[in-house]
Amino acid sequence: MKTLFDEIEIAGMKLKNRFVRSATYDGCADGNGHPTPRLYKIYEDLARGGVGTIITGLTSVSDAEQLMGRQMAIHDDSFIPEYRIMTDTAHRHGAAIILQLACMGTQHHAHAGVKSAWGPSVVEDLAYKITAQEMSRADIDRIREDFARGALRAKRAGFDGVQLHAAHGYLLSKFLTPYYNRRSDEYGGSIENRGRLLFETCQAIREKVGPDYPVLIKINCEDFMEQGMTFEECRFVCARLAELGIDAIEVSGGSFSSRPNESPARKEEGYFRRYAEQLARELPIPVIVVGGNRDFETMSELVRESSIMAVSLSRPLIRESALIERWRGGDRSRALCISCNKCFNPKGTSCVFNQGV
Ligand SMILES: Cc1cc2nc3c(=O)[nH]c(=O)nc-3n(C[C@H](O)[C@H](O)[C@H](O)COP(=O)(O)O)c2cc1C
Repeated sequence: MKTLFDEIEIAGMKLKNRFVRSATYDGCADGNGHPTPRLYKIYEDLARGGVGTIITGLTSVSDAEQLMGRQMAIHDDSFIPEYRIMTDTAHRHGAAIILQLACMGTQHHAHAGVKSAWGPSVVEDLAYKITAQEMSRADIDRIREDFARGALRAKRAGFDGVQLHAAHGYLLSKFLTPYYNRRSDEYGGSIENRGRLLFETCQAIREKVGPDYPVLIKINCEDFMEQGMTFEECRFVCARLAELGIDAIEVSGGSFSSRPNESPARKEEGYFRRYAEQLARELPIPVIVVGGNRDFETMSELVRESSIMAVSLSRPLIRESALIERWRGGDRSRALCISCNKCFNPKGTSCVFNQGV
C-alpha cells in the first residue's frame, strides 16, 4: 500500500518521502539575486524539517529582466559556488533540492523602472497594470537560451533538477493564455503554437543538461479567467511535454489575473486534486499536486487511491518548516497555514493566496 513516507524515485532522484515543498518566493536574496545567510537558513530549516524535496522560489534566468524585490537569480556563473552551499546543506539533511527557473514578464512587483516587461503581445497585465512589450524573435531566442544556461548552472551548482515555472501568469504561462497571447506568428493561435516557446525551451534545456538530468514543469490546470487556457489545452500541453522528455509535472492553477469566482474554492482541501488525478491517469510521467494540501489523512488517501506520485505544500511550510518531521513523529494534526500578512513577502501585502493562485 502506498504511503506518504514511501521512498520514491523521479527521473533517477531518490526521494525520501512523497512530500515536496512547492516553490515559494521569499524575498531573502540580496538586491542582485545572490543568496544571503537568511536565505541559506530558510533552506537549511526546510531540509532539516523532513520534506523529501525542496523546490526553491522562482529564480530569474535573465539579466534582461528586473528582479522582483530580493528575488533569487542565476543569470551568470558567479551564482554557482553560492548555490553550492545551499545544495550541499540540503543534501546533508537528506533532502533533494530543485531550482525553479522563471521569467517574470509583466508580473513584477517593481512597478517603477522595470527594464523590460516581456510578453507575447502588447496587452496590459490585468493585475499588475504593466503593458507587455511584444517579444521579437530575437527576444524569444534569447529567453530560450537564458533558461537553458540557467538550467546548466543549476546542474553545476548541485541542484538535483530544475523546474520551469510555466504557471501563475509568469512569462511561459502568459504564452499559453489566449487573452495575453494574440500573436499571429507560430508562437500564437492554436495551443500547439502557444505552447511552442515552452516546448522549445524544454528542448533547449535538455540539450544543455543532457538526457538524465531531471527537468520538471509547474503548470496551470486552467487559468480561471475569460480567454484563459482550458484544462483540455493543459492536457494537450502536458502530453507533449511528456513526449519531449519532461520528468514530472506539478499541477497548479490560476494567476493574479484569475477571477476569484471562476477558481475552485480556495479554502477546500486539495483544490486542484481532480485535475491532477486525471493527468496522473493519462500521463506516462509522475504528477505532483499542489494547492490546499493540509490534512495528513486526506493526502494519504490521495496517494493511495490515485496515481499521483507526490503532494506539495507551500504556505504550511512557511509557517512550520518542521511539519513533515512532526507528522513522521506521529503528531498528525492538520498543517497550519500562514495568515496572509505573516508570509515571507517583504511587504506582506501581496500573498499569492489572496490573488487566487
Ligand atoms: C509567499 C508565497 C510565495 C510563492 N512563490 C512561488 C514561486 O516562487 N513559484 C511558484 O511556482 N509558486 C509560488 N507560490 C505558490 C505556491 O507554490 C503554491 O502553488 C500555492 O501557495 C498553493 O499551495 P499551498 O496551498 O500549499 O500554499 C507562492 C506562494 C506563496 C504563499
